[in-house]
Amino acid sequence: MNLLVTGGTGFIGSELCRQLTRRGKHRVYCLTRKNTPIKKIKNLGIPLKDPGEALALAKQFRRLKINGVIHLAGYFVASHKTEDIAPLLESNISLGLRLADAAAQAGVPWFINTGTFWQRHDNQAGMPASLYAATKQAFEDILKFYQNSNALKVVTMELYDTYGPGDRRKKLFYWLDRAVATGETLAMSPGRQKMNLVHLEDVVGAYLRLIALIHSSSSRLESNYCIGLSRFLSLREVVQIYSQARGKKIKVQWGGRPYRDEEFMNPKHAYPVVPGWKPKYVSLKHGLAAIFKEQ
Ligand SMILES: NC(=O)c1ccc[n+]([C@@H]2O[C@H](COP(=O)([O-])OP(=O)(O)OC[C@H]3O[C@@H](n4cnc5c(N)ncnc54)[C@H](OP(=O)(O)O)[C@@H]3O)[C@@H](O)[C@H]2O)c1
Repeated sequence: MNLLVTGGTGFIGSELCRQLTRRGKHRVYCLTRKNTPIKKIKNLGIPLKDPGEALALAKQFRRLKINGVIHLAGYFVASHKTEDIAPLLESNISLGLRLADAAAQAGVPWFINTGTFWQRHDNQAGMPASLYAATKQAFEDILKFYQNSNALKVVTMELYDTYGPGDRRKKLFYWLDRAVATGETLAMSPGRQKMNLVHLEDVVGAYLRLIALIHSSSSRLESNYCIGLSRFLSLREVVQIYSQARGKKIKVQWGGRPYRDEEFMNPKHAYPVVPGWKPKYVSLKHGLAAIFKEQ
């Protein structure tokens, strides 16, 4: 297959590109920004500069005979400032819209989108908890037009939290690693919020499975799937499991900071998992043990 992946330099996209190219069955094109250094994409796929408008993209899609788009590019910010508005609109709405329209014009059969559980705060559909989630929701709504007019087969993957080797994002495990290294006390919320942490290898496994299914015209697919484990863990449990896996005590001041204004305390799955997807790391304990063994 000839596949177009966006977000190929990101945490999930880079591993997906690696897996797709390793299999040797696919030609993988990575959409890059105009100023992305080519070395950032090296070994991940064939770089394709975003021409910035749908007509030129459609021409490229026809020329390269693209069979499907996997859209992972996105701009994340938990709590936005004014200067985040432009990148939120560009990365989470305009870019995707250009791609979907180009794909529809060029007769690309399918489009895999990526959403977040933050789009349904307190388990209510279409209730974004942040401007980031609102832009993701807006784009998912836009895609319904392309889906309903039969221009594209569209599926959205809903992600919870992810972790894995080589994770440089300043998220929970970054701060836990730092607390281990420095011995400092971490001020955290009371820690009762539930999380669903999926290992990068399993996240990518879900995309690989969906790509195979969506490409086979006989598969009947839902419009949304989630990439989540059956068990949710509280933040306190996550810290405890991490501490056991590292064999180090972490000093945490629970309640040292308040919950976020829009904390999502008890998320529940809204969508099924991709048919046939079987996560390798069904527990955080095993996923973390595998990462620490490699280090
Ligand atoms: N990771 C999670 O836990 C999680 C949870 C829920 C949802 N998601 C969603 O999953 C997707 C992938 O997440 P991630 O953690 O892998 O993201 P990431 O590491 O932050 O990477 C973001 C990617 O998007 C690209 N990008 C952003 N704006 C772009 C633009 N305007 N044009 C071209 N490329 C652009 C970045 O390219 P540059 O290198 O050029 O910046 C980068 O490759 C995102 O859509 C995110 O919203 C992730």
